[in-house]
Amino acid sequence: MSNINVIPVPLKTAMKVGEFILPESASLVKFVKKKIDKSVEGDEAYRLEVTPEGIKIAASCERGLFMGWQTAKQLAMTANGTTTSPGGVSLPCLETEDRPRFAYRGFMIDSSRHMQAVDELKTMIRAAAFFKFNVFHWHICDDQGFRFESGKYPLLNTVGSWRDGSHFGKIKSAERYGGFYTKDEMREIVDFCGRHYIDVIPEIEMPGHVSAVLASYPEFLCANGNNAADNNITSDKIDVKILPGIFSDILCAGKEGVYEFVCGLLDEVMEVFPSKYIHLGGDEAPKKNWRACPNCQSRIKENSLADEEELQAYFINRVSGYLKSRGKTALTWNESLKSGKLDTEVITQMWMDKEDLCANRANGGGNIIISDFFAYYADYPYAMTPLNKTYRHEPIPKKVKKENHGNILGVETPIWTEYVDNFDKMAYQCYPRFAAAAESAWSEPKNKNADDFIKRMKKITPILKKTGVNPALAGEWNPLPHQRASGMIKFAAKNYSLDFAKEFIKMAKENKK
Ligand code: ACM
Ligand code: ZN
Repeated sequence: MSNINVIPVPLKTAMKVGEFILPESASLVKFVKKKIDKSVEGDEAYRLEVTPEGIKIAASCERGLFMGWQTAKQLAMTANGTTTSPGGVSLPCLETEDRPRFAYRGFMIDSSRHMQAVDELKTMIRAAAFFKFNVFHWHICDDQGFRFESGKYPLLNTVGSWRDGSHFGKIKSAERYGGFYTKDEMREIVDFCGRHYIDVIPEIEMPGHVSAVLASYPEFLCANGNNAADNNITSDKIDVKILPGIFSDILCAGKEGVYEFVCGLLDEVMEVFPSKYIHLGGDEAPKKNWRACPNCQSRIKENSLADEEELQAYFINRVSGYLKSRGKTALTWNESLKSGKLDTEVITQMWMDKEDLCANRANGGGNIIISDFFAYYADYPYAMTPLNKTYRHEPIPKKVKKENHGNILGVETPIWTEYVDNFDKMAYQCYPRFAAAAESAWSEPKNKNADDFIKRMKKITPILKKTGVNPALAGEWNPLPHQRASGMIKFAAKNYSLDFAKEFIKMAKENKK
């Protein structure tokens, strides 16, 4: 159990005799001394000491000092007002040594289904930094809207950024919806993240989830493209989608022009986002079009590929190779692993993997990020994903051999926004689950304790609220079994259908958590 109200729980804390009194209304900064000390190993590690005079933080670089500063703020803000010295708050003297378990500690925001204002994104980023996240994965385009401003491909914005309404379960509107982030706005986010030691990884989806791209540039469809019936469209052209779902019109993998377009777009993306990493999507790409497309079939033959799954690996490998030539590393969701032909250097993000693909990948030398659907997807109700389930999830899959644990780079928790159309909903869905994921990403398993986490989270909640992030009420964090069943039915019936609700519960039960 931790004696201090800090999330993520630090590696080691030794309580000392005495206290530091932070005078009421005094600025904490005045009482914190930061020092670069090269003997502290690791760029995010730090040592922190509370003495009767104030707080000392030592780290090998500014990044580590920033991590220590988050701890100092949490210590001070959760300190007791009742002190031996009235008019201040008391912090017990202590020494903390701290460093992260995982190098990659990410959160993802989907800005396609619903956009967030720049200030709202900043509020989420600030809160994430408070819990020592260091990656913001920005899902900036999808079937329901393209949100990256492109000078090279203007139709992506004049056409692809707009949809003729919204129909996500009970979120129903005939109003045109859309917009995009200008390059200045995206650079502002990159800069803001940089000041919080957070790397921004943009995601440009391919080859699937591209209705917004195909609505703008239908020439990138397969020869037999536009599966109107599959795609809930009645017109003869691809629409930016107003519905959620998986759509079978994807980028043609046979046409050279598609690769020229994708690489040209990525050039533009790399001008805005300096991260070493670019996410290429790669999830949920139905192969129906590719099977019937002469261009895709020729590509398969010419490259002696076994099937369409190998064609997906070819697609991602080719684009990853392009990124590599520009000094970047590609990420992809776990579906790109299906053929077993994905280049080892592509980092895979595990969200739904029933075939041990990721464990095999890590054992084979590939790097993995864990975003387990049943633990870390924050868009589902607490009835389906209670806080304890998020908290207790062990990120390293059991089948990954000990010697390969280093291939698990870390944890990422996503918020998809089909059903999250305003900031308060986002804050409610994400917190406290994001804080729980942050603790799994940073803290050693031996230091974790679910009850203790809840105690600390309750102390930290008022601080979070002051930053504009209102978490779910404590009574909702861990619903009782009967509340979970009814909550899940309610959510699924509202957003999908009663039949889906039954499937949904079955799926959750199979995952027994
Ligand atoms: C995903 O949830 N389709 C990555
Ligand atoms: Zn094709």
